[in-house]
Amino acid sequence: MCNVYQDGYMKEYLSLSEASELIGKSKETLRRWDKEGILNAVREPVSNYRVYRKDDVQTLLKPLFEENLEDEVSNYEAPDNEYSVLELFAGAGGLAVGMEKAGLKCVALNEIDKWACQTLRKNRPNWKVLEGDVKNFDFSELYNKVDIVTGGFPCQAFSYAGKKLGLKDARGTLFYEFARVVTEVNPSICIGENVRGLLSHDNGNTLQGMISILDEIGYNVIPVQVLKAVQYRVPQKRERLILVGIRKDIDIEFEYPKPHKKIYNLKDALKKGELFNSDVPESSGAKYPEYKKNVLDLVPPKGYWRDLPVDIQKEYMGGSYFLGGGKTGMARRIGWDEPSLTLTCSPAQKQTERCHPDETRPFTVREYARIQTFPDDWEFAGSVAQQYKQIGNAVPVNLAQELGFSIVKFLNQYYSLSKPR
Ligand SMILES: C[S@@+](CC[C@H](N)C(=O)[O-])C[C@H]1O[C@@H](n2cnc3c(N)ncnc32)[C@H](O)[C@@H]1O
Repeated sequence: MCNVYQDGYMKEYLSLSEASELIGKSKETLRRWDKEGILNAVREPVSNYRVYRKDDVQTLLKPLFEENLEDEVSNYEAPDNEYSVLELFAGAGGLAVGMEKAGLKCVALNEIDKWACQTLRKNRPNWKVLEGDVKNFDFSELYNKVDIVTGGFPCQAFSYAGKKLGLKDARGTLFYEFARVVTEVNPSICIGENVRGLLSHDNGNTLQGMISILDEIGYNVIPVQVLKAVQYRVPQKRERLILVGIRKDIDIEFEYPKPHKKIYNLKDALKKGELFNSDVPESSGAKYPEYKKNVLDLVPPKGYWRDLPVDIQKEYMGGSYFLGGGKTGMARRIGWDEPSLTLTCSPAQKQTERCHPDETRPFTVREYARIQTFPDDWEFAGSVAQQYKQIGNAVPVNLAQELGFSIVKFLNQYYSLSKPR
């Protein structure tokens, strides 16, 4: 394959044949990628032929070449077939967009929140968005038609005592609904995402219960991992617990995405650079009340409440001042050269302030979205508060994309060995 980086020069546009040769994929695959938005063709301004932009091809090829560099990591894997995802608890689509960026196709998404559903419909009118409580949907018509079921089910304790947990014991929880849908659809692989807290929830019993239920319904759970988003091209110290179930008739190893060495920071999120090709667009955002603004004005970038004069520390922290503990999220101002702390569903909460480095204000909606690696053209529906909530709830898009590559790798192997289609 010709290396566009070594050649150092490429025309601004490439024909279908040239792009196919460079990428090493058939024209048919490229046409499919065009339809799926993986690599879009455009009209060449003079001839009006359908061509590919050089920059778009380079962006697609970059991970392939990075694989050859010694201290770079790439998890990139192109899908050999069209793989389909059913996404439960879809929120505003962080996980879904990342899966799409990895080349997977969303066949349906379920979500109860009307604003999150509007976000999904607004951005992807072709996606089948099923609005409402997951309990009210039967997915049996998708039996054996979907490769992957994903879901960030909210964490709830099971009320069982001492015995091995079965599916029926979990009735009434949202994990039960996840497992029920998995049995209805029978995918090759199912993926649950959750907060790290699930590890210790009810002394680990909740997670153990989930693993034993997945076992009962025919899925082996591979060792659970907590992925640090910051190691997966996300400028934020967020963590996500990933639960992967592989259908028991499939004997193929699932490999988690390898962590990257490069760590991105707030500057990478908000300014033009490797992650985004422009500065963050302007948008609405929340404001601090005057008292909080006056306090945060005194905190330097990367600082927090301990950087305040002691009398103000005491006044601002109230009772918490005497409780000890770090509370490093209180009165916190993020610095340009560090990743953001985990974003929450509301940007001005007392325990979790993440003040802009130069201005005394919370991050705007678009800054929030950038820190979660949503593309700038992904719009959010609802009030500003609703938009923050949807973004704060999401799996960072780049982390989801890296996880998507692992799923693609797994399914490529599965289909090449067992040819189920
Ligand atoms: C952690 S968020 C999921 C975030 C999403 N994976 C993303 O990356 O953007 C969990 C979602 O589950 C939804 N949810 C909660 N209970 C539900 C139910 N009974 N039926 C359907 N969705 C539900 C919430 O509205 C919320 O959007």
